[in-house]
Amino acid sequence: TGVEGCAAAPIGPSYREKDEKPKATVSGKIKFDTVHVLPQTPQLIALLTIIRDKNTQRGDFIFYSNRIIRLLVEEGLNHLPVKEHEVTTPLGRTYAGVRFEGKICGVSIMRAGESMEQGLRDCCRSVRIGKILIQRDEETAQPKLFYHKLPNDIADRWVLLLDPMNATGGSASMAVQVLKEKGVAEERILFLNLIASPEGIEHFASKYPKLRVITAFIDEGLDEKNYIVPGLGDFGDRHFGTL
Ligand code: URA
Repeated sequence: TGVEGCAAAPIGPSYREKDEKPKATVSGKIKFDTVHVLPQTPQLIALLTIIRDKNTQRGDFIFYSNRIIRLLVEEGLNHLPVKEHEVTTPLGRTYAGVRFEGKICGVSIMRAGESMEQGLRDCCRSVRIGKILIQRDEETAQPKLFYHKLPNDIADRWVLLLDPMNATGGSASMAVQVLKEKGVAEERILFLNLIASPEGIEHFASKYPKLRVITAFIDEGLDEKNYIVPGLGDFGDRHFGTL
């Protein structure tokens, strides 16, 4: 597969002796150019450790997952085009910088994806947000589209598709089909998630070779109920308190 297993790597600043440094499980290497795993920094691993802990209460779960969501959004924004932009500083000097080019929009896959909307708004004030509701059909076990509401001009926008857990990739894949039917080019879609399974990553990278995936961690795999392992349980239930 294109995903290598998770390795235990030393975590922490390099000035500490190797044998003094804590070791942690970090996300494995990835072979797909379109899949971007956040840098496995001590901060990120500590945040993930908190939200994976079954004893973490809802308030902390929301607070710390929001910090990771913020990192994902910032990384997602790094993939948008910029153009040169010069400004004058209060000292009368010029600074040759850049500014964002293009319009964006968030699309959350209900219900868990809605938990990522605030993190997107924190970075992009008054960003437009569309919604897609996909649920598994009990009879066929296949994902089924129930509802979508998207900005009319979505085909002209860069889309940040939001779903915290990319397990099989099934619902997100259906969401991508909806976006493509609305005229959104695959290369303009950035799929953001906190934790992905190798299966979900494979599914996306092979089916949509131009779509970018940005994730904080690629876990070991899926259990028999398609939960990500080691995972963090049901993200929506932990975020919305519906356990
Ligand atoms: N959705 C979740 O919330 N958790 C998983 O492990 C898989 C899908």
